[in-house]
Amino acid sequence: MKKLFTSIRVGDLALKNRMVMAPMTRSRADGAGVPEDIVATYYAQRAGAGLIISEGTAPSAIGKGYLNTPGIYSDEQVRAWKKVTDAVHEQGGLIFLQAMHTGRIAHESLIPAGQQPVAPSAIRANGQIFTADGMKDFAAPRALALEEIPGVIDEYRNATRLALQAGFDGVELHAASGYLPEQFLSSGSNQRTDVYGGSVQNRARFVLDALKAMIEVAGSGRVGMKISPEMNFNDVHDDNPRETYTYLVDQLKGLNLAYLHVALFGTPTDYHGMLRPRFEGAYLAGGGLTQESAEALLQEGKADAVVFGSAFLANPDLPKRFLVGAPLNVPDKATFYSPGAKGYTDYPSLAR
Ligand SMILES: Cc1cc2nc3c(=O)[nH]c(=O)nc-3n(C[C@H](O)[C@H](O)[C@H](O)COP(=O)(O)O)c2cc1C
Repeated sequence: MKKLFTSIRVGDLALKNRMVMAPMTRSRADGAGVPEDIVATYYAQRAGAGLIISEGTAPSAIGKGYLNTPGIYSDEQVRAWKKVTDAVHEQGGLIFLQAMHTGRIAHESLIPAGQQPVAPSAIRANGQIFTADGMKDFAAPRALALEEIPGVIDEYRNATRLALQAGFDGVELHAASGYLPEQFLSSGSNQRTDVYGGSVQNRARFVLDALKAMIEVAGSGRVGMKISPEMNFNDVHDDNPRETYTYLVDQLKGLNLAYLHVALFGTPTDYHGMLRPRFEGAYLAGGGLTQESAEALLQEGKADAVVFGSAFLANPDLPKRFLVGAPLNVPDKATFYSPGAKGYTDYPSLAR
């Protein structure tokens, strides 16, 4: 019996299968961070997933580091997202919103005029970001003052409230890929000397505060978190990632999170083996999986559900293709972030 196709409970939800669609930025929102109508079509096409996790969505204008990415802080955004969640639900799917505050991964031209990106410490990330004028160095961030941190946590609280209003089934905290929560977690980007920096206990505080705020609003059965230990994306580095992530996951005990989503990218450390036994809720494993490797993780008890990114992007009916052993469409990187339907809603499904 293939486990991929079996149902599973994740927090408050009953998933029809164990194939989760990974959060993927697709840059099909307008300048005000409002998802365009085509976004509803895209997600509805993929409602065969046990659960869809939306593209990274900013909880505030200053947290929106990328061009044409969506937000969840204005009424107009909520109205547009409601069309998306309705379309997914009509097709029998479930969808979480991924709350993504990019922190120092930003550029002045991408956030409100006159503001500076915020981060735990005033340390610029090495690298460049796509702007309206082409590739530019990441902006130099300013360090958040201690008194400002509750306000940032409030942004996650507010995003959760608006996500539920927009009909999402839950929310995922994006604590991966070098964005604001991971900037706090990691010793390289967090050199604070207050209660949010220094020891692992202090560096993990921001992530835990954000989760607690989200749980206050949505209830623990509708909140998940994504981490990506040792991905080192966006110039984020930690001196002792095993200690950091085992500590963080140990602190989740008692929070009753719906799920922990761990994406791994070629690290030799067996994080699934290390973290899964420490976590009580559903464990979602992702990063470079194939049908075979995903099924093996489920069979070996290393994950409760599995997450597919680019395969879902290119195959709206991925679960069906796995079931019947059909060949897969190949993802076209050139249209990952380009405007319009091409490479977005025009990947073919199998003929009925
Ligand atoms: C086009 C694209 C956009 C992505 N955007 C996000 C994002 O917004 N948030 C996030 O957590 N991960 C993002 N990712 C990473 C995926 O969620 C996933 O972890 C990664 O693609 C590995 O899974 P895969 O090998 O099955 O594609 C993105 C990946 C791709 C391909």
